[in-house]
Amino acid sequence: MNFPKGFLWGAATSAHQVEGNNHNDWSEWELKNAERLSKVSGEKYPPENYISGRACDHYNRFREDFDIAKSLGHNAHRFSIEWSRIEPEEGKFDEKELEHYREVINALRERGLEPFVTLWHWTIPLWLRYRGGVFSKGFPKYFTRFASRMAIEFPDVKFWITLNEPEIYALNSYMRGIWPPQKRGIIKFFRATYALSLAHQEAFRAIKNINPNIKIGAALNMSYFEGVGIIGSILKKFVDQIWNKRFLWHISNELDFIGINYYFHNRVRNFKFNQNENKETSDLGWEIYPEGIYHVLKSLKKYKKLIYITESGVADANDIHRDKFIKEHLEWILKAIGEGEDVRGYFYWSLLDNFEWDKGFWPRFGLVEVEYKTMERKIRHSAWKYKEIIEKGGI
Ligand code: FCB
Repeated sequence: MNFPKGFLWGAATSAHQVEGNNHNDWSEWELKNAERLSKVSGEKYPPENYISGRACDHYNRFREDFDIAKSLGHNAHRFSIEWSRIEPEEGKFDEKELEHYREVINALRERGLEPFVTLWHWTIPLWLRYRGGVFSKGFPKYFTRFASRMAIEFPDVKFWITLNEPEIYALNSYMRGIWPPQKRGIIKFFRATYALSLAHQEAFRAIKNINPNIKIGAALNMSYFEGVGIIGSILKKFVDQIWNKRFLWHISNELDFIGINYYFHNRVRNFKFNQNENKETSDLGWEIYPEGIYHVLKSLKKYKKLIYITESGVADANDIHRDKFIKEHLEWILKAIGEGEDVRGYFYWSLLDNFEWDKGFWPRFGLVEVEYKTMERKIRHSAWKYKEIIEKGGI
């Protein structure tokens, strides 16, 4: 079976994880927490592991990295614009940084890679952090001002992603308290996702006013909840609504496409979550479960939206699982397409090994390995296997 004509193939990154030398709420938090995180790891990883620092130096090496993406057969690329670079002070837009992203977009176009641009991938400019971040009353307005300016500056971008995984952000930053600003509480979780949904809606309307022809989506973390037994089957429906559908429901009138970030499924048994069998796992211990993406896709039919897989990837330093991982996820996606789901593209996470948030540099998701001391790039075997699928346009 083949993928539809015009299918977009590529990989994804996010600014803070690859660029290097960002100055935002995360970079500050890393400096304060690196020692603690290293201790929690039992000193398995040194404090430097937890500081994004130069990251992959992608800010300076983006052309070289896009040459690699092109050589791997990609025809699209997802990346994010770092808000704290563009608007380092409230309302002041930095011309030099605007020019930088203009060059990034041009470099993609010159190589035949369609830009998929994320406006917010979790980091908050410092001026906004002092105002309360997503809890600031003005958050939707501030985000919309930034988003509108981006749509004006970069009119040839056809695909915008407003927000990356609002649910994961709200969970880790406002409920579990493990990411900045380390708040805890279930009400805070709902408040954060609600604020983000308002920001999405307002930005959607503003960007559409500027350019009605572009496509706007959000990248949502979706899990497949598998119910085992009677209790599991009932509970699974409930969590599926809260985790996968609630945010979507809020924004579904202001949405051209759904971006799906799928990593794993969650087996619910009796009153317990994460009862996965874990026959095959990634370096992070996440179960590899390609079938889950099929169930997620099937459950989205009623929304009648275009779908792009905006992230799907595996931490696998030795590149043992990655080619099979990609192939099997694509097989399940093809099955869903065969049954009428409108999937238009697949972005592997990630093009490069990069800074994996509170885990730091050790998890290696890249199609391309990064040797952090020298910044040398080495293409992994699985990247060529992915290229073979792209060239065939099917499996
Ligand atoms: C997703 C994030 C992405 C990366 C992958 C592994 O939840 O969107 O930035 O961290 O997980």
